[in-house]
Amino acid sequence: SQLLLPRDRTKPPTVFHLIPFIGSAVAYGMDPYKFFFSMREKYGEVFTFILLGRKMTVCLGAKGTNTILGGKLSQVCAEDAYTHLTTPVFGQGVVYDVPNHILMEQKRFVKFGLNTDNFRAYVGMIEDELDHFLNSEPEFAAYRKGGKEDWGHFDAFEQMSELTILTASRTLQGKEVRSQMDKTFAQLYMDLDGGFTPLNFMFPNLPLPSYRRRDKAQKAMSDFYVNILQQRRASKSDEVEYDMLASLMDQSYKDGRVLSDREIAHIMIALLMAGQHTSSATMAWCLLNLAVRPDVQQAMYDEQVKHFGAPNGTLRSPTFEELKDLPVLDSVIRETLRVHPPLHSLMRKVISDMPLPATLGNASEDQPYIVPKGNFLLAAPCITQIDPAIWTNSFEWDPSRWVDPNSDAARMYAEYTETGEKVDYGFGLVSKGTESPYQPFGSGRHRCIGEQFAYVQLGTLLALIVRKLEMKADKVPPHNYTTMITTPSKPRDITFRRRQV
Ligand code: HEM
Repeated sequence: SQLLLPRDRTKPPTVFHLIPFIGSAVAYGMDPYKFFFSMREKYGEVFTFILLGRKMTVCLGAKGTNTILGGKLSQVCAEDAYTHLTTPVFGQGVVYDVPNHILMEQKRFVKFGLNTDNFRAYVGMIEDELDHFLNSEPEFAAYRKGGKEDWGHFDAFEQMSELTILTASRTLQGKEVRSQMDKTFAQLYMDLDGGFTPLNFMFPNLPLPSYRRRDKAQKAMSDFYVNILQQRRASKSDEVEYDMLASLMDQSYKDGRVLSDREIAHIMIALLMAGQHTSSATMAWCLLNLAVRPDVQQAMYDEQVKHFGAPNGTLRSPTFEELKDLPVLDSVIRETLRVHPPLHSLMRKVISDMPLPATLGNASEDQPYIVPKGNFLLAAPCITQIDPAIWTNSFEWDPSRWVDPNSDAARMYAEYTETGEKVDYGFGLVSKGTESPYQPFGSGRHRCIGEQFAYVQLGTLLALIVRKLEMKADKVPPHNYTTMITTPSKPRDITFRRRQV
């Protein structure tokens, strides 16, 4: 029928597929980038594909992304797109289990805990954790030996996952969580994480052991946080805690209601899950790219010698303010998020028929596309971030594009920061401009609130790792899209020795 019937011109074109329910699930699931680029060629920037029975309308390009992420609340809904994945993991009463205006208040509460004073304290804590990690993990024995010939190797994603959860728990999550990290909490996290997969996204309820483990772990972890809250209230200690829990305990909704202990527990779980894979994958991609580019490692090291070098050849610890002022470090993170953004697809459900702007896709001017209620919308800022029509050598990882004032990236960056969209996000990364071709943190009402924290974590770890290790690898591995976020495929080993100075 796809071939015989004349196409309904009010709707975006549907991607041709042979098997009805499955649709394009395999092509999209295996390599969404390849799928989007080739469909754009065939159908233009707006098209609909079938994903296991769901109709997914993709709007590519900066304008397409903006149409979706800036969509009206009466037309697009994130809760309906995500809740079946997130609520069993985060728990009830938070994020996508509540109406949007409640989520907006909850995001505001979290922002109170993500303040400059806390970030200042976090830099030192992250440094301590990294020292402890390198001085105790079996994979880093060669670092401890420290000789010129003492080379070792580690799996970039596995090691960075561990380091990310250790540093996030020491900082954001608080000392009680950190102290249980080697014990019960780690297992709960693993079980919960086992329920945060594309399978869970596509099939919310299957009679599988991993689903049962997820549900059990969610309850146990929720209780774990509630206990901490009760203990903190009971204790009279006036030791200052630089953490999110302390901040959330003070917050109340506009109607005066204070956050319940369950809500706080579930917000903490949401933050743990939202930050873990995104940051650990980004760390791994940064290190893998640096490993094949010793010149960039050297430039990062030189930058630090310039700022933190003492006459006796040692480097002193950086502060939060100083880390914000290292352009080479900044460009490495920014470029890594351009080429390897953790989230390739941002989704919304259409809750009332939604006419798209006439200029989008291959619609005719007098008949713009209307996306019917019930479809899903899919924004893929990852495509504009590497579109050859927008960036020079778009597929190449080249941090210098952000530093060289004459590069297209630097010009674009300036343009989007000078149109009233400028936000001083910690390390100066700006991706708020809604029509910016660079949006690794999304935009609009659901934009990431973890960006600054991620920058503190990534920036501190990267700066210090480059001081301590020299890394090498033959190539950067391809993307693996079968995980919830884009991870490096195996093998993803980095060979290293202690930096020889
Ligand atoms: C939302 C990316 C780290 C918490 C988002 C979105 C993106 C994103 C693209 C928008 C999702 C959408 O529109 O559907 C990233 C990247 C990170 C990162 C690339 C690190 C490199 C973090 C961290 C936290 C966090 C560390 C917590 C501390 C959140 C929250 C939302 C969000 C709460 C809001 C969801 C909403 O309003 O619907 N993130 N994130 N993220 N992120 Fe992040």
